[in-house]
Amino acid sequence: MAKPSMLSLIKTKRDGGEHAREELAWLVSNVKDVPDYQLSAWLMAVVCRGMSLAETTDLTDLMAHSGQIMDLSDVPGPCADKHSTGGVGDKVTLVLAPLVASAGVTVAKLSGRGLGHTGGTVDKVEAIPGFNPEIPIEQFKQQLREIRVALASQTGELAPADGIFYAMRDVSGTVESIPLIAASVLSKKIASGADVILLDVKTGSGAFMKDDASAKDLADTMMEVGRRLGKQVVCVVSEMGQPLGHAVGHSNEVAEAIQTLQGNGPADLTELCVRLGGLILLGAGTVSSAEAGEAKLREAIADGSAIYKFREFVAAQGGDSRVVDHPEIMPQPRLRVPVEALADGFVQRLDALPVGIACKELGGGRLYKGAPLDLAVGVDLRKKIGDRVQKGEALAYLLVNDEAKLAVAVDAVQSAYGIGPVPATSPDLIRAVYAAQAVPAEV
Ligand code: URA
Repeated sequence: MAKPSMLSLIKTKRDGGEHAREELAWLVSNVKDVPDYQLSAWLMAVVCRGMSLAETTDLTDLMAHSGQIMDLSDVPGPCADKHSTGGVGDKVTLVLAPLVASAGVTVAKLSGRGLGHTGGTVDKVEAIPGFNPEIPIEQFKQQLREIRVALASQTGELAPADGIFYAMRDVSGTVESIPLIAASVLSKKIASGADVILLDVKTGSGAFMKDDASAKDLADTMMEVGRRLGKQVVCVVSEMGQPLGHAVGHSNEVAEAIQTLQGNGPADLTELCVRLGGLILLGAGTVSSAEAGEAKLREAIADGSAIYKFREFVAAQGGDSRVVDHPEIMPQPRLRVPVEALADGFVQRLDALPVGIACKELGGGRLYKGAPLDLAVGVDLRKKIGDRVQKGEALAYLLVNDEAKLAVAVDAVQSAYGIGPVPATSPDLIRAVYAAQAVPAEV
């Protein structure tokens, strides 16, 4: 094989060829020096041409090993990690991580920033004054030993190659690719060193997989890549046709996660967190059925242990835990602008994609690499599928700092809603649960 170069990789993939492991190894070890235009050309070629399972497995493995693999053997008990493939209003991690920890299972969470029109947990936690998601590995492990929950982003130490690919995909229209999503998600889950891996594969307008069949393809790929790399992965395919909960943004999503941990959250968000958590507790072997796990988690919300754990978690990462009682200490918008219903009727459609785009347009997403975010802006949805509305009533409020960005966001949110005369029901929250058995990596 000739010595790889970025140009040869781009041309191979453009022409539908398959990369050898050595070529991908060269790319991952040199990616920090690859010019943006060449990296985005290669990513686009992958989006258009795809990758074989062998290539996807190699890329995942190499990205995971671009930094350290966390050794959690000195952290007692099984450790769990969860990841979503990306959604709108998806603040599940902010609820699930402390919730599961409060029920006695350790959560070692490696998270990402916003991607495309979807939000990212690392950006959201930065709305909490002082919260540091870039903690060193030793602090991460110490925190797991002391309070059973820690959250970190990719750093120079953990899956750094994913950090570079991810930031470029976000701004080059190269997110929607099964091999790139699988490698990105799984490389972080392997680097986190967790024993129990639960992946929330989103399906619908606000997801990168627009229907259940493509969500299953993504789940199948991630389970098979996990199996080949010796990791057992459970995938839950869940609804992202309409946004999760009412809040889409950063500060407002953290506030909604807090309400959920206090037992006052939206029904869909609460239900999803409890169902995913039940599967994690089952995977960790602390309960005999997912239903028993769910009951334990509902109890942790009801008796206050879940919100207590959230306070501990925030404080351990340098954040101001007064945020629980005073969410207004997070960045707040100057204006709350209603988007009004144009007709009487029932909400029959609420598309997550334009809502995510509205949030991004208001300043809640990046239009270029490294762009600063406005953590105060976003969308508060007042009406969801099935709700009755009257003409002129607020469907949603836009949280705005820059009025110049308002018109596009109003149009986007207006277009997200479909109102008709007949009551509609929300689609099922959980579409399917898939699990594969791990085999040793050498097999
Ligand atoms: N989350 C990730 O970490 N990567 C993706 O590509 C999509 C969602």
